[in-house]
Amino acid sequence: MRHLPSRTTRTSRRRVIGALTAGLLCAAGVTVPAAAQSPESAQAPTAGARAGNDLALTPPMGFNNWNSTHCRAEFNEEMVKGIADIFVEKGLREAGYEFVNLDDCWAKPQRNADGKLEADPVRFPNGIAAVADYVHSKGLKLGIYTSAGTKTCDSVGLPGALGHEYSDARQFADWGVDYLKYDNCNNQGVDAKERYTTMRDALAATGRPIVYSICEWGQNKPWEWAAGLGNLWRTTGDINDSWSSMLSIMKQNLPLAAAAGPGHWNDPDMLEVGNGGMTDTEYRTHFSMWSVMAAPLLIGSDLRTATPETYRILSNQEVIAVDQDPLGKQGTVLSSEGGRWVVAKEMRDGSRAVALFNETGSAQRISTTAAAAGLPGADAYTVRDLWAHTTRNTAGGLSATVPAHGTVMLRVAADRHWAAYPPAVELALDGSPLVEAGRTAQLTTTVTDLGRTPAVQASAALTGPSGWRIAADSATTAPALPTGRALATHWRVTAPPGTATGTYDLTLTAQYRSPTGQRVRSVVPFQAHVVVAPPAGGSYVSDLPQLTASNGYGPVEKDTSNGESAAGDGHPLTIGGEVYAKGLGVHAASAVEYYTGGACATVTARVGVDDEKGAKGSVAFEIWADGTKAASTGVLTNAMAAQPVSADVSGAQVVRLVVTDGGDGVDSDHGDWADLRITC
Ligand code: GLA
Repeated sequence: MRHLPSRTTRTSRRRVIGALTAGLLCAAGVTVPAAAQSPESAQAPTAGARAGNDLALTPPMGFNNWNSTHCRAEFNEEMVKGIADIFVEKGLREAGYEFVNLDDCWAKPQRNADGKLEADPVRFPNGIAAVADYVHSKGLKLGIYTSAGTKTCDSVGLPGALGHEYSDARQFADWGVDYLKYDNCNNQGVDAKERYTTMRDALAATGRPIVYSICEWGQNKPWEWAAGLGNLWRTTGDINDSWSSMLSIMKQNLPLAAAAGPGHWNDPDMLEVGNGGMTDTEYRTHFSMWSVMAAPLLIGSDLRTATPETYRILSNQEVIAVDQDPLGKQGTVLSSEGGRWVVAKEMRDGSRAVALFNETGSAQRISTTAAAAGLPGADAYTVRDLWAHTTRNTAGGLSATVPAHGTVMLRVAADRHWAAYPPAVELALDGSPLVEAGRTAQLTTTVTDLGRTPAVQASAALTGPSGWRIAADSATTAPALPTGRALATHWRVTAPPGTATGTYDLTLTAQYRSPTGQRVRSVVPFQAHVVVAPPAGGSYVSDLPQLTASNGYGPVEKDTSNGESAAGDGHPLTIGGEVYAKGLGVHAASAVEYYTGGACATVTARVGVDDEKGAKGSVAFEIWADGTKAASTGVLTNAMAAQPVSADVSGAQVVRLVVTDGGDGVDSDHGDWADLRITC
């Protein structure tokens, strides 16, 4: 394993190479293809770096124990050393991860007779300096934590640095600490700017380069004032290992792009990748979106027990290169309509990273163009898929069917070598297929050429789970697809009788050649839903199988209110003091879909904000019949009694029950669909 020089040496060497390469490339008028860029690529001297220190010119990368251990006993010297070992052994150090950071609970409850901090003797029997030495011996850096208050955040009451800033900073420097996360608990109401400035000055006075992480949870809008103080500042409250938490933090951090830059970053909190509360698709989204936001990448899972897929996500060099790009721009939102997000990030080499992110619970087609992403006009562009690791050419269209909660990460360049790559194709399936077991459903797939060059000898194949019958009703091949043309194929799909309701994978495979003979095979999984026709007569909707469900916090609850985390943690549905035995308890933003197969007539309910949140919460209810809003309430608040709502859903294949936040954010938005019935 190659020995890493210290950060200062590495940075200055990179700068010289960067300046040289940039000069040569400008003279030759060449654009570097995205695929040729590595995270160690050219770094120009950074204009406008923050006052105070010259650190974190790209977002800090490393590890912090908090998300995996909190204050549990397993947070100790053995763990920290183990993580440092893994950084080296598993190539994470090579990938750019540098800091091994201790969070809360490393300290002894009492300062010593000299007023100095000491390490918890059980967790760190050899003290912090020994841990720092070990971490440094691995070519890594050590981070530590304390609070800009009298005590840290943990309830045991460990000492904070308020009033001890200079001696604590000195202590950290003497131990060999390279990074300080400075929290906000027990701050005694002292002005935040004042508290965080004092520690900035105290760190500077040590003369040791220490990355300074401001952790006041976005309470005082640090993005407006902290660029001259800290290298990063938290923009939100704490993340937890759930889709809804990650999503809500992402949405709070995205609009703050203008504040980020080399040496001063928005911090949407540490990574949860690998902690088990999200799917790998969701963790890839988490990692992609943190990277396109130029967020610090602090691993928050215990790498000693991480899965191979967790390692694959965390060590994707091409996604890391987006995060670590030396231009230091945070990506900005180009569109987000219907939960179909396009976020583009300008890169140092002139290319753009483009994230196509699907917030919704079903596959979505998400599209933009090279021009919309900020690239100059050109005949064609190269487009690199940073998870599939493929390079194609495009005439300008950037489009993909993105699975539920997934992200397609692209890097697009106006590269004059575009013709060296095969054309990009987009694989799509019309609609979200609904299949009743034993009956035949009709589907249409398309394979569309997005490239400047034709896709030659194109073919499409659709496969499903074993036992399913899938037959083509129209052509599955085309001699050549020119730019913008599609091969559309109709299929008959039959799930065997008795197939259980639920989602099943169908796989669309396209094969074609480039004009120069390169063979391409492109595979996209789609989800089909096996459904059952609703029973004739009247039913309580909560007794029917859900087709899809998304919910602000925790799962959608049947016949109880929403308890915000685990299934079954709600209370009896209660609106305005009245209790209901049947219905759904949700939390905005929520959408629950049911298959109605064109056989149902009306949906009725009594709706409102559940009483369990006191006076708080405001929501609005909508009932959709396929693409038509068939009924809606206005904004309902907790003060209001249950309102009747009723919708004509005749002919609809799918009924969707939506609860929005009433326009004021989702805080306390517990919506009840009480006495919810359907007639079919
Ligand atoms: C606060 C911070 C967290 C973590 C804990 C430790 O909640 O925001 O990131 O450091 O304190 O107690």
